[in-house]
Amino acid sequence: MLSDKLQQALNEQINAEYHSGYLYLAMCAYFESLNLDGCSNWMRIQAQEELLHGMRIFDYLTERGAHVVLQSVEGPPARWDSPQAAFKAALGHEQMMTRRVNDLADLAQTEKDHATNNLMQWFVNEQVEEEANVEDILRKLELVGEKGPGLFMIDRELKGRVFTPDPGATPGE
Ligand SMILES: [Fe+2]
Ligand SMILES: [Fe+2]
Repeated sequence: MLSDKLQQALNEQINAEYHSGYLYLAMCAYFESLNLDGCSNWMRIQAQEELLHGMRIFDYLTERGAHVVLQSVEGPPARWDSPQAAFKAALGHEQMMTRRVNDLADLAQTEKDHATNNLMQWFVNEQVEEEANVEDILRKLELVGEKGPGLFMIDRELKGRVFTPDPGATPGE
């Protein structure tokens, strides 16, 4: 059985993942308003992935017979100063999520809960990818500046991202 402390922390992490989904959905709408279809597509897929992250923890909790307590999800901002500013905020957000994941892995290890530690190691790896992807886009956006053909080239590139649900996301099924 999961400890109360771990149950609470994992419930909070579900909330944080849903908040991430909300944040990226808001960024999706922001990019829609700028007619940057590729950026909005990228953010839409990002939002879907975050909801799956939440579901991954949800399924884990129910599988372990733990108590799921869903809290209200904090609303994200509605606009940013520029595409660069939005991706910069996304990077800062992912860095914060990485700290949360690391703290959860620490807690699982302190409590010698190997199954939860295993789950958190998946998230540790995922965060490496998340940060690298956002950082890559941000650096490109910073290189090309706020307007001009470079921005549209990056936007076109981001239009190619497709949503591929992770088969491991629903271990309960
Ligand atoms: Fe996530
Ligand atoms: Fe993320």
